[in-house]
Amino acid sequence: MTYLIAPSILSADFARLGEDTQRALDAGGDIVHFDVMDNHFVPNLTIGAPICKALIDYGIKAPIDVHLMASPVETLIEQFAKAGAEAISFHPEATYHPHRCLQMIKGFGVKAGYAINPATSLEVLDFVGEYLDVIIVMAVNPGFGGQKFIPSALEKIALIREWIDDNDLNIRLEVDGGVKVDNIAEIAEAGADTFIAGSAIFDAPDYKAVIDAMRNELAEVENG
Ligand code: DX5
Ligand code: ZN
Repeated sequence: MTYLIAPSILSADFARLGEDTQRALDAGGDIVHFDVMDNHFVPNLTIGAPICKALIDYGIKAPIDVHLMASPVETLIEQFAKAGAEAISFHPEATYHPHRCLQMIKGFGVKAGYAINPATSLEVLDFVGEYLDVIIVMAVNPGFGGQKFIPSALEKIALIREWIDDNDLNIRLEVDGGVKVDNIAEIAEAGADTFIAGSAIFDAPDYKAVIDAMRNELAEVENG
């Protein structure tokens, strides 16, 4: 299993976003998790596609994994695809036409994903498996960094891992919210391969120490 660590820049220093994002990558982060909030789908407001483009123009080379917590999603899909996102995920309940939105993302040659809220049933995955490159399992209710991990996410991750493997799908299975050094192993054991961490990394004085500790935990899972 290739494990990816995705620093969530929601917790980065927005006044020095390019520099702080690069710092998290230099410390060992693999991909950049980019949280888009609209004060409508979630009660918070963050950053849009111009900031994604600005990070790339600044020199950020790592893939930018966009997590739309916004409604409607169609206009944002186009904007983020053009801004250079590697993947765009949205919440299926944020649009009347989730299937069409997945097609739209793929049409731009970008990886497409669903983000699944804590109370959202896995039925939303029916009939769309072939379009999905990413699934983000929310282990908190979306909107804020620094919340506590909701344990039922583990069961959900395990069920999705089984579905991915049984159907021989190539889908990155990400977990978002409340990921820390002390729970990353059990999340990996449940079947996640990508670990989004905001406050755990950016609120620490030494990003590398945190990411190294996460990797040590993951190595122990791999080595049984
Ligand atoms: C929450 C966001 C997360 C957030 C996670 O709505 O989608 O990506 O940054 O933050 P932590 O890791 O602090 O729970
Ligand atoms: Zn997120």
